[in-house]
Amino acid sequence: GRTAAVIPAAGRGERLGPGTPKALRDLGGVPVLVHAVRAMCRAEEVALVVVVAPPDSPDTVRAMLAAAPLPDHVEVVVVPGGADRQESVRLGLAALPGDVDVVLVHDAARALVPAATVDSVVAAVRSGAPAVVPALPVTDTVKRVAPDPDRPAGAPEPVVDTVDRAALRAVQTPQGFVRAVLDDAHRRRTDGGEGATDCAGMVERLGHRVVLVPGHEEAFKITRPLDLVLAEAVLARRET
Ligand code: CTP
Ligand code: MG
Repeated sequence: GRTAAVIPAAGRGERLGPGTPKALRDLGGVPVLVHAVRAMCRAEEVALVVVVAPPDSPDTVRAMLAAAPLPDHVEVVVVPGGADRQESVRLGLAALPGDVDVVLVHDAARALVPAATVDSVVAAVRSGAPAVVPALPVTDTVKRVAPDPDRPAGAPEPVVDTVDRAALRAVQTPQGFVRAVLDDAHRRRTDGGEGATDCAGMVERLGHRVVLVPGHEEAFKITRPLDLVLAEAVLARRET
């Protein structure tokens, strides 16, 4: 079967500030999502890319992709997204043809993921893992608090304890799946919308084995304004 990448790109990017949806913003002269599509196309196995566009702008996204040079061995399809990431992924999965047996789900916002990271995720799925997630050690010390909705924003918070960082990993995308496993998780949708930031989490809850492979620092998610500054610097370093 073929390997496809679903790219959820339908979010507003509220943490980046007001303006154009995040995936449509400029990064070094090209929309963020075009970088993400190119990153998937550079991976050896990816034959098809499904871009999940902001619900009201699939045609804008089609025009952006038509204006960008993309390799022609990869088929690119655009579908409108949904209200949250999980819904957007579900709509992307629904657009996959029957001959796709391995699926990558990749945040448009992780626009600069290296091809080698994508390849290693695909290779681990092809070697027999039902679900594969790139991840990195956590570098900050992490403290647990007891969230209290009545505490005013910015008021000092009591520490409950310090988490053992050695046992934590920060996860990235692309996350790779045997297609049937991810389809099944989306059909059952057991989590009622909670914890929907991660496809692998849905698969874990169904009892499937999820494994981690090394992530990459350039696969960071563009979330806040400073991340755009970092992304521009990564691009500039690649071009020299
Ligand atoms: N996403 C999506 N559909 C949604 C919400 C998010 O396809 N309804 C996508 C985003 O476009 C992004 C990825 O999921 O590529 C990761 O989400 P995040 O970084 O949180 O992006 P946004 O939701 O757009 O940003 P914010 O949470 O700051 O509004
Ligand atoms: Mg979001």
